[in-house]
Amino acid sequence: MTQYSLILTEQRGRVGLITLNRPEALNALSDTMGREILAAARAFDADPGVGAIVITGSSRAFAAGADIKEMASKSSVDMYLADWFSAWDELARVRTPLIAAVAGHALGGGCELAMIADFIIAAENAKFGQPEIKLGVIPGMGGSQRLTRAIGKAKAMEMVLTGRVMGALEAEAAGLVARVVPIDALLEEAMETAATIASMSKPVAMIAKEAVNAAFESTLAEGVRHERRGIFACFATEDQKEGMAAFTEKRPANFKHR
Ligand code: CAA
Repeated sequence: MTQYSLILTEQRGRVGLITLNRPEALNALSDTMGREILAAARAFDADPGVGAIVITGSSRAFAAGADIKEMASKSSVDMYLADWFSAWDELARVRTPLIAAVAGHALGGGCELAMIADFIIAAENAKFGQPEIKLGVIPGMGGSQRLTRAIGKAKAMEMVLTGRVMGALEAEAAGLVARVVPIDALLEEAMETAATIASMSKPVAMIAKEAVNAAFESTLAEGVRHERRGIFACFATEDQKEGMAAFTEKRPANFKHR
């Protein structure tokens, strides 16, 4: 497996695990770290032996944002020419289901990275926020768009305009996170959830992910058409035949593509 400098990767069964590993900076997301996360996620995505990916940080910080020290002296033109943050757009294009297991600070780019994942499982100590305004900037990795879609205008606007941080329970009530679990159980819960997804047909899980994501990109009618094309495509897979045969034969499905 490729060696990275700021992240750790491992595969457990059919689950790929990416651990942000820059504790001295609370996992601040430098440009290098972004590229490493993208490379690792793409490698897992391309591996038919991986059916789901988990991304996590430490118990103190999932990630405390984009690397402020790296960005501080950059000019607008520097950022524009380098297309700063573009690796994150690519990460959103990874097709394998991606779960963020979040403990501690998920601020700025950290909150945005968690929202790029397909869903978030949070530890009780997780804190979410978009404090960029306090630095004289605004979110740059999709936060103003994904947070608003996740929790609605009122709360998103308040958080983006004031930098207020939201605790795990409020984030769950607001619909930002799927589930809150005790911190000691976080990784295990996320890995188990990922293993459940990875036990399904990978192409069908990819089609399902694409269909849910279509809800954020389209009108209802277009989204429903997208879904319909997706379910028709499922009927072209051996796994649909196997899944439905297993149901009628009252046995567990043995999907070919998992
Ligand atoms: N970038 C660079 N370094 C960071 C960092 C960041 N986003 N967040 C923390 N660090 C560094 C600190 O500078 C510190 O390093 P030194 O020991 O060398 O001084 C180390 O991590 C530990 O941090 P603290 O001493 O500050 O730890 P704390 O427990 O007192 O506070 C915190 C924790 C509240 C998260 C605080 O570190 C903090 O406010 N961090 C910045 C949060 C932030 O503003 N994030 C948004 C960044 S901008 C962005 O993300 C843009 C975008 O949308 C893409």
